Amino acid sequence: MTARRRTAILISGRGSNMAALLEAAANPEFPAEVVLVLSNKPGAGGLARAAEADVPTQVIDHRGFATRADFDTAVDEVLEAAGIELVVLAGFMRLLTPAFVEKWLGRMVNIHPSLLPSFKGVHVHEQALQAGVRFSGCTVHFVTADMDAGPIIGQAVVPVVPGDTADTLAARTLGAEHRLYPAAVGLVASGQARLEDGHTVYDGDAWTAVTLS
Ligand code: GAR
Repeated sequence: MTARRRTAILISGRGSNMAALLEAAANPEFPAEVVLVLSNKPGAGGLARAAEADVPTQVIDHRGFATRADFDTAVDEVLEAAGIELVVLAGFMRLLTPAFVEKWLGRMVNIHPSLLPSFKGVHVHEQALQAGVRFSGCTVHFVTADMDAGPIIGQAVVPVVPGDTADTLAARTLGAEHRLYPAAVGLVASGQARLEDGHTVYDGDAWTAVTLS
């Protein structure tokens, strides 16, 4: 077996996607090894969940930095010190500077709770309900300087049901996120999905693992 990718998960909140990834990574065959969970919020619920799973945690409170660049530099130093090879954003609600994104290009992924390119940013489920779409879902993508716009690695579809509220749609979507994200991180960590010339390319039929309905 080739070495597992040393992976950091960046969170800002409850960390349910992080928990799904930790569960997948508990299998020694999973190609990513989670060696660090980093939060920009001291009270993030995911920190306790990571500690329960014996994964080292670190807080870098963004409020302690004058600029985004200073915060990103501090994050980068921690990632380098931990020998991180793959950065996984999981409900990390800070915009990253172009310099940081460029440095980690092809080695940093994010999950977003819509079928991109629809409904970027925040209040995603409200946007979907307002638009009246019959299907929503979630997207895993490589992170680029443009928010929620990097090359798509995988998507999962969920129906929008009459009577849905933002909360019910969010909960249904989250279930799909927990299936999609471990599959997508596994493909990227193993090199079966990778960024080439601004597009995601796959080995063989590996894409089928991250095209979920
Ligand atoms: C998830 O739904 C994730 O897709 C979303 O935040 C939630 C975090 O939940 N991320 C974004 O909206 C990023 N733009 P979690 O902390 O339980 O994983």
